[in-house]
Amino acid sequence: MMNAFERFGLLINDRIVKTPVGIASMAGIVDASYVLDRAGNIGFAFIGGYSIDKQTMAAAKVLAADGDRKEFLYEDPVEELKTQIALMEKSDVVFGINLRGSSPESFRFLAKALGDTVVYEIDAHCRQPAMVAAGCGEYYLRNPDKLVAAVRALKAEGVWVSVKIRVGVADDDRALAISLWKAGADILHIDLMDAGSAKLRQIRNSCPLLIIANNSITSFDRMKEMLQHGADLVSLARQSDERTLSGLDAAITRYADEEGWYNSPKQLCRGGDIRALAFCCMPVKECPLIPTLERIGMPREEYVRMKLESVKGTPLEHGSQTCFGSLTWCCKNSSPCMFRNMTLKQYDISTKEYMRLKHELSEKIMSRVFP
Ligand SMILES: Cc1cc2nc3c(=O)[nH]c(=O)nc-3n(C[C@H](O)[C@H](O)[C@H](O)COP(=O)(O)O)c2cc1C
Ligand code: SF4
Ligand code: SF4
Repeated sequence: MMNAFERFGLLINDRIVKTPVGIASMAGIVDASYVLDRAGNIGFAFIGGYSIDKQTMAAAKVLAADGDRKEFLYEDPVEELKTQIALMEKSDVVFGINLRGSSPESFRFLAKALGDTVVYEIDAHCRQPAMVAAGCGEYYLRNPDKLVAAVRALKAEGVWVSVKIRVGVADDDRALAISLWKAGADILHIDLMDAGSAKLRQIRNSCPLLIIANNSITSFDRMKEMLQHGADLVSLARQSDERTLSGLDAAITRYADEEGWYNSPKQLCRGGDIRALAFCCMPVKECPLIPTLERIGMPREEYVRMKLESVKGTPLEHGSQTCFGSLTWCCKNSSPCMFRNMTLKQYDISTKEYMRLKHELSEKIMSRVFP
């Protein structure tokens, strides 16, 4: 039996995430007790959103008074969040708090008060007019400098930071992802709306952040599509019921145990993201590899050197009968190939181990592409 870290290799806030399925916040609904009721089938959760300063707490009151939205209401956000965090203390669910704050100071103050046991998620997602007018939610997507300042304020307190965004609102989602990465954010939690996996791939190709994909991920097919195009984890809000969560958890656990790399990308020429360089050939023909290398500004010789250095001392060095003389350049297991399979057999490498080694290779490639 594999343990969760061997299976998924996921760490958030220095804790092992037991499954890449989690819960996304819903104001007035998702709190610690909501999460604890579903804890058996999730690896992480973001409670909230919680309004954390005068402006956003006033906006929450306006929304709640309008009658059609639930909100968490309290007089003292620090006290309320301390209570919620204490409830989660013994749980193995990696825990985050989704926060509506209107200034870097609000976030800094909260992080000083609550410490580093939780992930701080900035709500740059809410589109309710009262919240946006208070200077949070979608306001941040239209004012990315302010969002970057909030990220920096939290990072200065040494805590893990997630940013919850909705695609298609900022001028350029890729540029936003890059600036959040450069500001020190750890996680990008992306509501993809109906933009689909092409948008996700664009963001994956722009930054090395841990990505949580969100929106209508209620079947294993949809979850797999997200994982194959750059997501590390997926989250559910509206359909975060026990049945759906346990189905996704069981399916991805089985898939990981069979396949060895639970979120392996498609090959580059089949629409895969940048991680698929792990499956790419030597740069000897006109194919999607060439424009990809140009886009990331990597000369062909450097690409060759990077891959060869990355597999040094690993079983991927074997394979003199393969197209390019080593498994380094070999295709994904889903592309049938007699020559690769002969090599794997000869060196007693299972297909699952082959994919695990390709996963390791892709992580080395990612750290070279995004130093
Ligand atoms: C009632 C409700 C309240 C929500 N409140 C928040 C919130 O406070 N902060 C936030 O970042 N997202 C909030 N969301 C967005 C969800 O986290 C999620 O991004 C969205 O519902 C799409 O995911 P789903 O298809 O799994 O529901 C809310 C969604 C709903 C339906
Ligand atoms: S190098 Fe090979 S795997 Fe990569 S895009 Fe070209 S043909 Fe496809
Ligand atoms: S030997 Fe097979 S798996 Fe390896 S590069 Fe050639 S076709 Fe792909």
